[in-house]
Amino acid sequence: MSQENLTRLLQTIADLPTLPTVYMRLNRLLQSPNSSASEIAKIIESDQALSSKVLRLVNSSFFGFSRQVTQISHAVVLLGFNTVRNTVLSISVFESFKTTSNHIFDRRQFWLHSIATGLIARALARKLNIEQDEEAFSGGILHDLGKLVLDQFLPQQFTQILDMAREQNCSLLEAERIILGTDHTEIGEYLMERWNLPHMLVEMVALHHTPSVMRSHPTLVSLVHIGDALARRLKLGFGGDHLVPDIDPFALEELSLTPDMLENMLDDIREQIHQSDDILALVN
Ligand SMILES: [Fe+2]
Ligand SMILES: [Fe+2]
Repeated sequence: MSQENLTRLLQTIADLPTLPTVYMRLNRLLQSPNSSASEIAKIIESDQALSSKVLRLVNSSFFGFSRQVTQISHAVVLLGFNTVRNTVLSISVFESFKTTSNHIFDRRQFWLHSIATGLIARALARKLNIEQDEEAFSGGILHDLGKLVLDQFLPQQFTQILDMAREQNCSLLEAERIILGTDHTEIGEYLMERWNLPHMLVEMVALHHTPSVMRSHPTLVSLVHIGDALARRLKLGFGGDHLVPDIDPFALEELSLTPDMLENMLDDIREQIHQSDDILALVN
């Protein structure tokens, strides 16, 4: 689909969700070099629900701090600005797509798929000593954002797409292209650009099914691509169809991995995910 047609399709959706103002304010503050932990904490504290989720997350085994954290300002210092931003972003997106009228698509299973993809991408990044492990996690959480847009705003077409994927045993991506002429990667990219999210994140969403398309962050894109494939293989959550996609050889090469090496990492990755399963509290 041309960019123009995609834009037209999405403009027919009157109210695409906006990101909560808290995230916008936080983002602005984090971009200024003089922002302090207490200023950042103040913004987060202005939103009760967000504060309690941040604290819950900080105290989960996902981050693995040994002592109980009760103050947001303390959490900000412990996590660092970048991780705070990514954490608040993930929580904000969960909140923006909370309600659903379509009961065909199981949102909880969808979030499990998204979180598992993020956790696997992060675990791989750590194993491979890639510094941007938290970015890989956020990219994994957000990678199928376009499916949420479809579920929420084009429920009839999305039902057709889900049916087609099931009946013809094809991927959601293929069904989307046939029925809509676009797919969840383009839709996710469009929304994230509207939200002015960092380029790196947009790229992971846009290219997670086509990692060999070259832009600026092939390593992060490859991590999310593999995370998605492994989450499906390990049957963690449900992304909308039952296919287990092949891993693009480009992604393996980009990370200097062979299929055997990846195979050998699976037990470890499974273990890390198991240890982080309290992050699922985010979707409850
Ligand atoms: Fe996808
Ligand atoms: Fe996915």
